[in-house]
Amino acid sequence: MFKVENIRKDFPILSRQVNGKPLVYFDNAATSQTPQQVIDVIVDYYSNYNANIHRGVHALSQEATDLYEQARYKIQAHFNAKHAHEIIYTSGTTHGINLVANGFSALLKKGDEIIVSALEHHSNIVPWQMLCERTGASLKVIPMNQNGELEIKLFETLLNQNTKLVFVNHISNALGTINPIEHIIKKAHEVGAAVLVDGAQSSPHIKPDVQALDVDFYVVSAHKMCGPTGVGVLYGKEEWLNKLPPYQGGGEMIAEVTFEKTTYAALPHKFEAGTPNICGGIAFGTAIDYMNAVGFDAIASYEHELLEYATEKLLEIEGLKIYGTSERKTSVISFNLEGIHPYDVGTILDKLGVAVRTGHHCAQPIMDYFKIPGTVRASFAFYNTKAEIDVLVEGVKKAKMMLS
Ligand SMILES: Cc1ncc(COP(=O)(O)O)c(C=O)c1O
Repeated sequence: MFKVENIRKDFPILSRQVNGKPLVYFDNAATSQTPQQVIDVIVDYYSNYNANIHRGVHALSQEATDLYEQARYKIQAHFNAKHAHEIIYTSGTTHGINLVANGFSALLKKGDEIIVSALEHHSNIVPWQMLCERTGASLKVIPMNQNGELEIKLFETLLNQNTKLVFVNHISNALGTINPIEHIIKKAHEVGAAVLVDGAQSSPHIKPDVQALDVDFYVVSAHKMCGPTGVGVLYGKEEWLNKLPPYQGGGEMIAEVTFEKTTYAALPHKFEAGTPNICGGIAFGTAIDYMNAVGFDAIASYEHELLEYATEKLLEIEGLKIYGTSERKTSVISFNLEGIHPYDVGTILDKLGVAVRTGHHCAQPIMDYFKIPGTVRASFAFYNTKAEIDVLVEGVKKAKMMLS
């Protein structure tokens, strides 16, 4: 039974004060908070298991290896990957995207086409631009509309026999729009293109089934899912991961090294050069256990309630405009007060203990589309409350009074 009062007790940071006021943490789309269960695992790891993995015959190394590999199985089960070796540990979403973009350098040629969406985070734009520069491929963009939704009919007109890759986020970090990735994947596959879905913003709210989606690559960051920073995973279909060359060279990713020739390790180690974030991987497994114990259905329905409540209350403020008004959106509200810079609103909210994000949210093309410098973004998690939303709303009213 979902009880937010009980859940909040798991997050020690939620009881701290900021600027003399109880913290109201609404910057969850940037990073989520960490439950005690995950903190305990991190402390336990460094207190009892710390060792390098995969190489040692001694007990500590073997125990750390077991914990790290068990976490990979948990992550595999969570995303419903067919094989554990389709789960590649990374340092986060950005690393996962760059790994794939780098690998495709060897597979693309001039004349090939790549499609991205107008709703992307810079992490899912810049690596593809760099890939185009390296290979001579060209980049096409799925446009968006005033609601912050992708123009799917126009996407279909961009597809042709030259389309090799399609990149789209599952949920927009700037607006919260949930994109119709099932349809995008199906249509892209009809012309033989591979699809990478950026799941950085969906994974905290939705439990994706990569086999049911038939997606080729899916990338996430642990720190958006109650886990630590500096770790994430790339899911890739085995056939694609076998086709891509290694990303980085080094220890762990080789089968045999001589000065004449090196052969590479099998998946997943081919893509995991060097000593990884061992503790981070283990703690990511615990974070996934934690979120599953709360339950993704309960999380989605509670967060939707928060979204509706906050939308209604904020829209009562005259001169407040919300950007991203799709019917299909998650618990993110991007807004501006008429004639007031988002940074100023964010600064006043901070004085009241309310943490929101202001700026372009690493999604400048979206801001350009709306012809604004940025927005104030309040993003809610399952441990937030309606009472906290009331504090935000009062804070926004105060900011409006002070800055008008
Ligand atoms: C949609 C999206 N993609 C990619 C990223 C980059 O994630 P990371 O910084 O963890 O690599 C973010 C982070 O906010 C994001 O929201």
